[in-house]
Parts: sequence; C-alpha cells; structure tokens
Amino acid sequence: MAAVRDAASASSADAWCVRHLHLSLRVTFGAAGAGRLRGTARLELRCVREGERAVRLDAHPGLGLQRATLLGPGGDNPRDTPTRPDTPPESPGQPLRFQTRPFASYGCALHIDLPQPARAGQLLTIEIEYEAGEGPGVCWLAPEQTAGKQKPYLYTQGQAVLNRSFFPCFDTPSIKFTYSATVKVPEGFTAVMSATSWEKQKDNTFIFKMSQPIPSYLIALAVGDIMSADVGPRSRVWAEPCLIEAAKKEYDGVIEEFLTVGEKLFGPYVWGRYDILFMPPSFPFGGMENPCLTFLTPCLLAGDRSLVDVVIHEISHSWFGNLVTNATWGEFWLNEGFTMYAQRRISTEVYGSAYTCLEAATGRVLLRQHMDNTGEDHPLNKLRVIIEPGVNPDDTYNETPYEKGYCFVSYLAHLVGDQSKFDAFLQAYVNHFKFQSITADDTLSFFLEYFPELKAEGVDSIPGFEFDRWLNVPGWPPYLPDLSPGEQLMKPADELAELWAADGLNMEAIEAVDIMAWKTYQLVYFLDQILQKSPLPAGNVERLSKMYPKISKAQNAELRLRWCQIILKNNLEAEYSKVKDFLHSQGKQKYTLPLYRAMWGGSEAARALAMETFSATAPQLHINVQNYVKKILGLAVAEH
Ligand code: BES
Ligand code: ZN
Repeated sequence: MAAVRDAASASSADAWCVRHLHLSLRVTFGAAGAGRLRGTARLELRCVREGERAVRLDAHPGLGLQRATLLGPGGDNPRDTPTRPDTPPESPGQPLRFQTRPFASYGCALHIDLPQPARAGQLLTIEIEYEAGEGPGVCWLAPEQTAGKQKPYLYTQGQAVLNRSFFPCFDTPSIKFTYSATVKVPEGFTAVMSATSWEKQKDNTFIFKMSQPIPSYLIALAVGDIMSADVGPRSRVWAEPCLIEAAKKEYDGVIEEFLTVGEKLFGPYVWGRYDILFMPPSFPFGGMENPCLTFLTPCLLAGDRSLVDVVIHEISHSWFGNLVTNATWGEFWLNEGFTMYAQRRISTEVYGSAYTCLEAATGRVLLRQHMDNTGEDHPLNKLRVIIEPGVNPDDTYNETPYEKGYCFVSYLAHLVGDQSKFDAFLQAYVNHFKFQSITADDTLSFFLEYFPELKAEGVDSIPGFEFDRWLNVPGWPPYLPDLSPGEQLMKPADELAELWAADGLNMEAIEAVDIMAWKTYQLVYFLDQILQKSPLPAGNVERLSKMYPKISKAQNAELRLRWCQIILKNNLEAEYSKVKDFLHSQGKQKYTLPLYRAMWGGSEAARALAMETFSATAPQLHINVQNYVKKILGLAVAEH
C-alpha cells in the first residue's frame, strides 16, 4: 500500500521503502541523571520514486548529527557487523552532505543529499552517526526519580511524534519496517526494547531483533536497574528489583488468559512474546503498547488486579494499532477506538458483561466530561481529525478517539446484529490489513464489502448515522451501546450518590449500603457521580470522607484521582495534602492535567496549591506533561 501523506512528518516516506533499520547505541549516565546516547542509525532503503536526489528524514534539534555515509546496498560496514558476521569487510562508505531545516515545533527535517539521483528500485544504505541529547522522546531520570532511588534510568516514548528525537527516521505511522539494535550500557544496567528477541552479550551489550515490520513510533528502549520474572509461558514482567515481587503477584497467570482470548477473537498473536515493563512513576501514560514489551505505569500495581483493563487494552493493540495501524495521526481513532472495542470484548469473555459494561460506563463519563469541557462542537470531537501542518498530533489527544471510537465500532457491530459475525469480521479485517497502515476509508469499505447485504441496504447513509457524520461531524456519538448489563453494579452506586447529594443526609439509608464488597470500578463509578453532583451541600463531603476511609484513604490510583477531583470541586482545603501527595507520587498525564485544571479553575487557595505543587514536581514530569501543565497555569512554554 502506498504511503499516505502525513502532515506530521517532514520525511520523504513516499519516495522510499524502508527495508530495515539498525541502531547501534551506547548509553552512558551522567552525574545528575542526564546522560548520553550515542551511536549510528543505519537505514536500508529502496527507492520507489525515480530520480530522488535526497533522502529527507525526521529529526529533532536535540539530535546531534555528526556524519552521514552511503554504504553498500546491504549496509555492510566494517566497523559494525553484528547482524552479518559472514560478510567480508567492505569500503568505509562515501560521506554524504546533509543539512537540517526547520519543520515544526516538534521536529526538524534532515536532508541528506545523494551523490546522484536514485533510480526506482535502487537499494541503498545510509548510516547516520548521531547523539541523542535533550529531546522529548528520550527521558533521562535521576536515581531519585526511580522507584528504587539508587540508579539512574533511561526510557524512550515514541508515540506520537517523539521518536525523531531518539533517532533520525521516517517518523510516520504510514510506513513499517523491521529493526535490530545493539545497545551497550554501563555495568549494572539492563537494556530492553520492543523487539522479538533479546540477548545479552559480554561487555554489557544487548542485542535486539524485531522481525515483524512496525512503524517508527513503536520502537522503544529502556535502560535501568531492572530484572524480570516469568508470569506465563510467553510473558514476563520487568521491573526495578523493589517492584518485581509486586509485579509478579499482580500479573502471574492472567496475561496468558488475555492473550488466548484475544487470539480466539482476533486471530494469531504474531509478536512472539508479550512482556511488560513497569516504568518509573513519572511515566506519562497508563500503558504504551510497544510490541513484545508493553510499558506500564507502576500505578497499576494496585495489589488486587483491579486495574487489569489497562493491560487488556495494551494487549488489544497487538491486533489493532500494532498490526493494523492508523496511517496518520488524524486517524488515531482507528488505533484507539478499535482497541477499546477489542479490550471490552476480551473483558466480556473473561469477566462477563456486567463488569465490562460498568467499566465502559466509566469511559462514557470521561467522554461526557471531555465534551462538557471543550463544548461538543469542538473540532477535536470528531473521529477523523484534521491535523494541519505545524500542529503537534500529541496536542490533539483527548477522549474522543477512544470512547466515541468505541461507540462507532459498537454501532458497526449493532448494524451486523450478531456478535459472532462481527467477531469474524474483526478477525478478517486484521488478517486483511495486517502489517499495513490504513485510513478509515479502508476500514469502512472493507466492512461494506464484507457485509454486502448491509452495503445494499445503504447502512453507510442512514440519516443521523451516516458514516460520514461519524467521522467528520464533532459531537456526542449518535449511537451509544447498551450498557444495561452493568445496571446491577451501577444502580447501587447511582442510588448511594443520590443519597449523598441530598440536603439533609438520610444517614439511615446511607448506612444501610455496604460498600466494602464493591469492586474498584463500582467505587470509581460512584465517585464520578459524586463529582458530577459536586459541590455537595456543605458538610457532606467531610462526612463522606470520614465514613469511607476505603475511598478517602485509598491507595488505588483511579480512586485517588477521583477523590482528589472531589476535594477540589468541593474546595475541601483540609484534604489538599492528598492532592499534593498524589501529584508527587506519579506523573501520568491523564491524572495530572485534570487535577491542575481543577486547581486552576478553583479558589485562590487551590491556585496556590497548583503553583506550589508544580514548582516542586515539574522536574520529574515528562517534558510534554510539564508543558501542558504550564499552559494550564498560564506559564511560558519553551519552544523545544
Ligand atoms: N497508545 C496509548 C498511549 C498513547 C497515546 C501514547 C497517544 C502517546 C500518544 C495507549 O494504548 C493508551 O491508550 N493508554 C491508555 C490506557 C487506557 C485507555 C486503558 C492510558 O495511558 O491511559
Ligand atoms: Zn491505546
């Protein structure tokens, strides 16, 4: 499939086919955490557009580019041939002229001139020697920022457009390639990557090979004091030593069940292993679906498996996102909406529809909150987002691709009317588009071809539910899947929230409800209702806090987030320290931004709390999260 034009990439991805990328890296840690990542990126290319005079790559001002060299077609280089030990040494290659040009706030273009125009079909290999410095994709953590607080840590986060500050590349999800890497790290450290195979050699050198083609954003590296423990036949958890027991306990035995159900529903799991790396607390996401090695926030180590839906979500990306990929970030809902649907299919099989509908109801609340905050007509509240040149795709991130996307996929299932037929469609869809990058048009045409009777009925143009409207009109989803199987779990929570929102509290009725047996998501749902009804009549939240230490003293991150939001909405100054503690304890974007928004929209005291907390925690936040908080607080944001 031809590369689709991606406004977020400066690269000439449409003129080249990337056959392979090899990274050869050395990592060293400096005194205060910041370190150096030096090495080479070797790109094996095939020209697909006659007469190309240059190779244009995505890069970042934070990348120090030292040298570009044209090697033989196979990329053989006498200085570094770990993947081809049998090839005889060749010439050291031909130096190439290169220059960088401005592109956007989030990256620049690297033009590498070719000695002569390339012919269509011509193979060539370019090696770029570089150093990755302070860039948003490469995160250097000081020992204090890790769980163990003993050794520094390095991790990369590629999605959406950050890997151009990790290595020069065609940084667009529209093309895929295999990669390999050798990573030399200091004594006492371990390197892991999103790769099929992991091998430790002498000299603290780690060798990786990803044997399936993937887009650039899925290449990920972490280096730290980490160890692993098996949790299933093809799965292990990686974590700092102080977290490894908790990590093993949380996931021992369950991962395989999710993978097996996923395979039954969506077809073979093609990635070999499914391992998990628990990240340091400042990791900005709940999870990141790096193939073979999902990165997860340590907040998920709740001790009771209550937050496994995030793992099921990341596993679901193994089919939706990693195998069938959005061709541009404007089609991000294809990754996330299908993944939410797949996650809830797996969850339904494993935990039943009551629990799954309850979890989906908390998702719907998030979508409601998002649309209330932005206004339904906001252009980001469409499934297909127009990302204009210069706009950072990460700035378009919100709940719409997830939850409205989930509604649209549910609507397609509703049109089909039979779950097993729709499951079969999903499996055929994955099989048809595997290892490709596609747009919603590809998805929807395939759907209509797969169900010719629906196509004949004209289901794509039912007034009010037109596919075009789903994709291109902002606003609340025209169709919502039926979540009534979750009623039995939601109703008691709804009723209890009503009681707590009343003017004169009916303590007898309140005390008759025993929340001790409630599942975490029931409590989450209850707290969302309380938040929505807040501020409550004076004194009610204080009483609620005293009555339910299970909530107000919870260690579970999803409960802590909601409790903090309730504290702020009710301006409960006595419990401000909980907001502060929570923000000190982790740096997940989806927890951090709503709390700063709530503080900034609150009282003088709340604003002061925001400023105080931010100045203390800023250095430990991911640079993107730091900048988003700065925007909320009206502080200046540096360009890079
Ligand atoms: N791929 C996303 C995380 C992401 C999105 C990183 C966009 C960078 C840019 C991941 O799969 C995700 O959606 N994580 C969610 C999990 C949740 C929906 C269960 C998260 O981190 O909260
Ligand atoms: Zn996701």
